[in-house]
This record gives sequence, structure tokens and C-alpha cells, in this order.
Amino acid sequence: MRPSGNKDYRVDPEMDQSEGGLKGFVYALKSLWPFLWQYRYRVGIAFSLLIIAKVATVTMPWALKVIVDSLDQGQVEQLIVPMSMLLLYGFLRFGTVFFSELRDAVFSRVTERTMRMVGLKVFKHLHQLELDFHLSRQTGGISRDIDRGTNGISFMMRMMVFNIVPTLFELSLVAGILFINFSPWYSILTVGAVLTYIAFTVFTTEWRTKFVREANMLDSKSNTRAIDSLLNYETVKYFNNEHYEAKQYDENLEKWESARMKNRLSLAALNSGQALIISLAVMLMMILAAKEVVAGTMTLGDLVMINAYMIQLFIPLNFLGFVYREIRRALTDVENMFHLLDRDSKIQDSPNAQDLAIANARIDFKNLNFGYHPDRPILKDINFNINPGEKIALVGGSGAGKSTIARLLFRFYDLNSGQIKIDDQDISQVTQESLRAHIGVVPQDTVLFNDTIFNNVAYGNPKASENEVRKSIQMAHLDGFIESLPQGEETLVGERGLKVSGGEKQRIAIARTLLKNPSILIFDEATSALDSASEQAILKAMEVASEGRTTLVIAHRLSTIVDSDRIIVLEQGRVIEQGTHIELIEQKGRYAQLWSLQQSNSHQIN
Ligand SMILES: Nc1ncnc2c1ncn2[C@@H]1O[C@H](COP(=O)(O)OP(=O)(O)OP(=O)(O)O)[C@@H](O)[C@H]1O
Ligand SMILES: [Mg+2]
Repeated sequence: MRPSGNKDYRVDPEMDQSEGGLKGFVYALKSLWPFLWQYRYRVGIAFSLLIIAKVATVTMPWALKVIVDSLDQGQVEQLIVPMSMLLLYGFLRFGTVFFSELRDAVFSRVTERTMRMVGLKVFKHLHQLELDFHLSRQTGGISRDIDRGTNGISFMMRMMVFNIVPTLFELSLVAGILFINFSPWYSILTVGAVLTYIAFTVFTTEWRTKFVREANMLDSKSNTRAIDSLLNYETVKYFNNEHYEAKQYDENLEKWESARMKNRLSLAALNSGQALIISLAVMLMMILAAKEVVAGTMTLGDLVMINAYMIQLFIPLNFLGFVYREIRRALTDVENMFHLLDRDSKIQDSPNAQDLAIANARIDFKNLNFGYHPDRPILKDINFNINPGEKIALVGGSGAGKSTIARLLFRFYDLNSGQIKIDDQDISQVTQESLRAHIGVVPQDTVLFNDTIFNNVAYGNPKASENEVRKSIQMAHLDGFIESLPQGEETLVGERGLKVSGGEKQRIAIARTLLKNPSILIFDEATSALDSASEQAILKAMEVASEGRTTLVIAHRLSTIVDSDRIIVLEQGRVIEQGTHIELIEQKGRYAQLWSLQQSNSHQIN
């Protein structure tokens, strides 16, 4: 299980890096542009359909006016005029919907494909980022960032094409028609009302953004906390901490609840204000129009037309408040996601990196200095080498830096100073992909995918045949265990591999690494979770596996590494002794001391 003691439950302050406002909008648009550009023709067609639909929308009230006027003027005996207009009216009404639907259908490919491409790009990028990034960020938080980000893209794009642009287009058409046909007051009132409405919406939305963000942040925080708690189900049980966990969760939920409440109240204020502006504008225009009808300067049809325009215009405008709010939020989400993309990996291939060329896999560690944090050095002036095909053991107390050396060889981190060379090639100067292709690691705490045993082993080399997978399973002495399972190799290992024992998990990890077939092997405590019998089996498997390969074995139990070609003793980040088992025993140093300690212990146990 993943230790979570050093985990930090604060929500990462990096999480919300959005700048919001125009700058954020420009940033998001710039990031999205390359994706949209691929679909420029489709976007063009969608916009043409949009214009057709809007022209139909705006013509509709005019047709209504002609109908009302002809009926009003008693031309009923010549039913021809209203009849043809009624047909046109019906056609327009249908056209409005039909062309909008067509536009949606044409545009939806653009939205979905963009979501897919951006999602994939972010996913790939996350795998590019260095280990440290993943250790210090919470996976739950990141996946929510991606989720929200891609949904935000879809929302932004749909709203642009389906709401904002059409509404602005309709507004200018309506204002133009009113201006040409009637007293300028109507278009002044229309434009004035819309501007007031927009200003009010923007102002109020700005004010309530902090409530929305707070609610979002608390939402994510309580969620990551809950996920982490459930992932650590066993630990929670070991310490009887269910109540503590529930209390922690509820404390987060309580804050979330009150943030949501504030969010809700401010939303009510916004919606009511918007409704007030709309009602006032429509009322004023109707009063004006009614007066003109009475005075005879306007027909009844004109009044109906103005009323229809207002109602039509304010339907989507009513929506604009929601859209503005949501676009602001989507913008924040999209920005956060694109900021993830902007973050470069700290571990980069050097500009002219070549692929690692393995001759015989000799490894040199030269004057290595390294620390995870600048003010806490972990490895100090490490010097040793592993000759081709040699098996070298790294021993030393917990926290001495053994696993760190393995991580450095795999280039999960860059050195502070010094060099690691494989066949005389500095590993920081070769491509990471080629470096990692040649190194197989059986890590200290193996985590398995929630899949079958077979698939977990096959993961070591997706191209391997079934027979090759079975061969690795045999080599890792897993076949006996698998035969004892009712579902055999199709048995599911459970979330993070928790349904198999530590030793079984380790053998799965070994089988997986054997399948990868690398030139360099690292075993980090590969036998730590095994009993003596399986330990012997694994040691034999390791022996077979490491034949002809350069091998680094990290071990606590010295009995497992007695036969190594050389043993390196690490203490507090320094190499204090090295030599064969016999040599080190004769030196009567730290190793000899550890050896006799472990010998007497095992005698007591036996
Ligand atoms: N990602 C990290 N960030 C900061 N410090 C770390 C990190 N990983 C390990 N350390 C620290 O570096 C030191 C060396 O860790 P390392 O994992 O190399 O020890 P080790 O020799 O493998 O110990 P063990 O035998 O217990 O596995 C430890 O003190 C540990 O706390
Ligand atoms: Mg370790």
C-alpha cells in the first residue's frame, strides 16, 4: 500500500492558476486555436447555418405583423395575403429550429474532436512530467482538472457558436430593423436595455466569482480527502480511525455547504436583477407603442411585431447571464488545464540526445551528489561501478539512499553533480525512452493494475506472445500459485493489487520485468515480502534472470546477497565499504557487524 504519512491534505495552491477576465480568455483561445483551425471549413459551414437560422428568426415577427395588419384592416375576403404569409410564418418557424439543429450537428464534431485531442494531449503530457510532480500532486485533483477542462472547452465552444454570437447577431438585426421602421426610441431602448443587462451581469458575476471558486475548491478538497481515505481503507481500520476520518470529511463538507449556500444566494440576486431590467425595458416599449397605436402613427401589427422582437430577443439573453457565469467558470477550468500543459518536465532530453547504445551494460557512478531538496543532501560523493554482467548488492540502513540510487539510474531525477554512465554514455545525454527501455526495475512497493494476473505480467511487454508471458510466469515461480487459483491467470488482483499477498505481488512484478527483457536489472528489496521457501525460489529465478545482465540488487536481508560479485555498503548517503562477502567479513567493519546481527537473529527464530 502506498504510504501516505508524508502526504499533504492542503489543496495545491497551484491548482487554480487562472487569471480570468480578458487575459484568460485570450490565453484559452490561443491554446485552442490550433485545434479549431483544423476544422475551419466545418466551422464556416456552422456559421453560415447560424446566419440562415437567425435571419429566419428575425423575419418571423415581421410576417406576424403583416398577418395582423391585413386581418385588422378587414381584408379578410382577400384571404390570399394572410394565407401566404401564414404559410411563410410556418415555414420560418420551422426553419429557425431546423437550421439551428443542422448547425449543432455540423459543429458537434468540432467540439467532440477537440475535447478528445486536448484530453489526449494532457494525458500524454502528464506521463511526460517528472516523478516529483506526481508525488507532490494528488491524482484525484489532476483527473478532475482534466475532466473539468475538457468539459469547459466543450461548453465554451458550444456557447460561443450556439448562444453568444447568435444573440449578438440577432440584437444588431433587431436594433437595425427597429431603427429603420420606427422612432429611434425603440432601438435606443433595446440597445440600452441589453447594455445595462450585460453590465449588470458582468458586474454581479465578478462579485460572485469568489463564491463559485470557493465552492469549487472545497468540492475538490473534500473529494480528494474522501478518495485518499478510502484508498487507505486498511490503514484506517488498523487504527480504528473511522470516526476521525468521518469527522475530517464532515469538516470539509461543512465548509463546502456554507460556500454553496453563499453561492446560491448570490445567484438569486443576479437572476432577480436581470429579470428586473428585462421587465422594465419591455414595459417601457409597450407603453410607447400603445400610445402610438392610439395616436394612429403605428398599426396594431407594429405593436405585435415589437413585442415579438422583444420576447424573442430576451429569451436567449435571459440565458446570457447563465452563459456568462458558466463561461467564466469554464474559462477557469480550461486555463487550469492548459497551465498543466505549459508546465515543462524538469527532466528533459538534452537537445541532441541520442538513443542509448548498449554494448555490454557497464555502469559507472562518478562523484554522485544528490538531494530531493536543496537543503537536504541524500547522496554524498558516491563512486562505484558495475562491470558487464556483474551482480552488485547495495545494502545499508533504512533511509540510507539505496532506492534513491536506483531512481537516479532510471533518471527519475537529475543529479546535483557527478555523472552516471552506461557504457560510457552519460545518462543525462541520452533519450529517456531508450534509457528506460534498457532498464528493468522490480520496485520496493509494487503497485498492480486492477486487472488479471496475466495482463499484469503482460504489461511488461505488450507485444509479447502469450507463450512468452507464460514463460516469464514460470521463471518467476508464479505457476504454482496460479494453478491453485480457481480462475487461474485470469484472477483479478484488485485495486492496486491488494487482493494478492505481498510475496505474490512481488513475483508478478518480477515476471513482468523478466518479460521486458532489459540489459540492466534492478531489484529493490525483491525478496523482502517472501518466506524462506519462496525466497529461495525467487533467488533462483533472479539468478536465471540476471544471467548475462548487469544487475543491481538492493537488500535488507544479507543472506540473499552473499553470492554477489561485490557488495556496496551505504550509510547516510556515503559508500563506507565495498567488496565481496568474504572480504567484508574479514574487514570486520559495518557489514560484518550487520551480518553477525542478522545471523544471531535468524538463529533465534529458527
Ligand atoms: N520524493 C522524495 N522527496 C523527498 N525526500 C525523499 C523522497 N524520496 C525519498 N526521500 C528521502 O530520501 C532518503 C533516502 O530514501 P531512500 O528511499 O533512497 O532510502 P532507502 O535506502 O531505499 O531506504 P529503505 O531501505 O527504507 O527502502 C530518505 O530519508 C527519504 O526520506
Ligand atoms: Mg528503499
